[in-house]
Amino acid sequence: MTEITIDEMAAFCKRKGFVFTNSEIYGGMAGFFDYGPLGSELKKNLKDAWWKYHVHDRTDVVGIDGSIIAHPKVWEASGHVANFEDLMLECSKCPEKFKAESFIEEKTGKSADGMKAEEMNRIVKEQKLACPKCKSHFKEVEEFNLMFKTNVGPKTDKESVAYLRPETAQLIFADFKNVLDTTRLKLPFGIAQMGKAFRNEIAPRNFLFRCREFEQMEIEYFIHPKDTNNCPYLDEVKDHEILIYSAEMQVKEEKTDGKVMKMEDALKKGVIKTQWHAYWLAMEHRWFVSLGAKAENFRIRQHVDKEKSHYALETWDLEYKFPFGWKELQGVANRTDYDLQQHMKHSKQDLSIFIEEDKQRVVPHVVAEPSQGVDRAFLVFMFDAYNLDKERENVVLKLHPTLAPIKIAVFPLVNKEGLPEKAKQVFDMLRKEWNCFYDTSGSIGRRYARQDEIGTPFCVTVDFDSLKDGTVTVRNRDDATQKRVKIEKLFMTFVQLIFQGKSFAEV
Ligand code: GAP
Repeated sequence: MTEITIDEMAAFCKRKGFVFTNSEIYGGMAGFFDYGPLGSELKKNLKDAWWKYHVHDRTDVVGIDGSIIAHPKVWEASGHVANFEDLMLECSKCPEKFKAESFIEEKTGKSADGMKAEEMNRIVKEQKLACPKCKSHFKEVEEFNLMFKTNVGPKTDKESVAYLRPETAQLIFADFKNVLDTTRLKLPFGIAQMGKAFRNEIAPRNFLFRCREFEQMEIEYFIHPKDTNNCPYLDEVKDHEILIYSAEMQVKEEKTDGKVMKMEDALKKGVIKTQWHAYWLAMEHRWFVSLGAKAENFRIRQHVDKEKSHYALETWDLEYKFPFGWKELQGVANRTDYDLQQHMKHSKQDLSIFIEEDKQRVVPHVVAEPSQGVDRAFLVFMFDAYNLDKERENVVLKLHPTLAPIKIAVFPLVNKEGLPEKAKQVFDMLRKEWNCFYDTSGSIGRRYARQDEIGTPFCVTVDFDSLKDGTVTVRNRDDATQKRVKIEKLFMTFVQLIFQGKSFAEV
């Protein structure tokens, strides 16, 4: 369970310079946020860690960096122009508008995922749901396309209409042939992309959880259609345990958050149908946990039939226990060959692959598409790091060293008698490799507390003994333990602590 609410987290993020409301001096823009000095560092570290784990540490995934605006036909082919819609509830008198699904869920306490407009209208009538602001009745539920429109070029006519991308995934399909022609990838392989996505959400809410401009980190993982259930990496995850909430449990309305299972057992019992889904869901859970998130705050939930996207054969979400309930953190959809087939049809280009062994061409399938929102991941790491330490009487933000915005803070014990000069030397040496902070103001306790609150894992204090024996005090944020370390060994100590993942007790 998280220690604070989402509003308290938003206030903390603002107070410490992690995230600000966009254009706050003009009253703000709903659904838009700016990352501040610490937040932008944390976000960058998070994205770098994602890229390392998903692209650099693997030999079967390459990356692209596509543009935000693409040919409008991309979005016609993908089905977004026709289908990327949410249902909206609009007040008949005042300007209030709600995402119908969320509003109905909130008022009835029941899932409205994938619910059709007629059923929503019926519930609104039967339960006499009214506008919370002016108490007037609602208009009939309406469909609303979430894509932001713009015009390219000097004219603003129908021909110049283009869209800001609502997902990064489509560019991967549109660039599929170019990537294949310029790499020597063989199935199975993945193409990754991270970057901005835009959705004109009807009612952005819960701080960074649902915004109108956000970032995604996505992989389209392509396989030979005959290998849907043949993942060569399955052994790596077969013992991985996770809380599983299947479609069957949801349909039967079992009073449970799910059942903890090993991936191997979930496959044997048919709870998870394809090996690739088991593999990618476990890998994604592991990624979060490897960076300090709490394993028990996650579960995987299968989509029930009516909530699947227009392109998905089967989808599992990786969910996180946010203070406002279990919510989607990442979607892992089986998109089959839907997207490549659609782009072949609309572009008249051949996007199939020649398979040497089969002596024939096939259109690869995307059997699992790990699709993660950066901003939601940011929230997860913040929530799981946040600790109000009663003894220390301050927040200790236990961010993983890889993610921490500042890795090391350096202090002279007092700001005189040669200590600042020595401390500056230490600071200059360390900041060649890591983002460091130099601080001379306030008591040493106060300086430690300030760093605890922003998640700096290590502090180095230079004192009078440092001038005599060349040692400094290194303090560990999480348990406030300290060690004396020779200055000449300091760099390698931090290599072990930050790059090699050694514990403070070990080094
Ligand atoms: N390519 C598939 C796709 O885009 P999605 O479930 O619509 O699937 C994937 O989005 C992820 O993007 C979500 O799991 C979530 O983490 C993030 N995301 C989606 N809409 C968002 C929003 N309005 N604000 C913040 N993150 C969002």
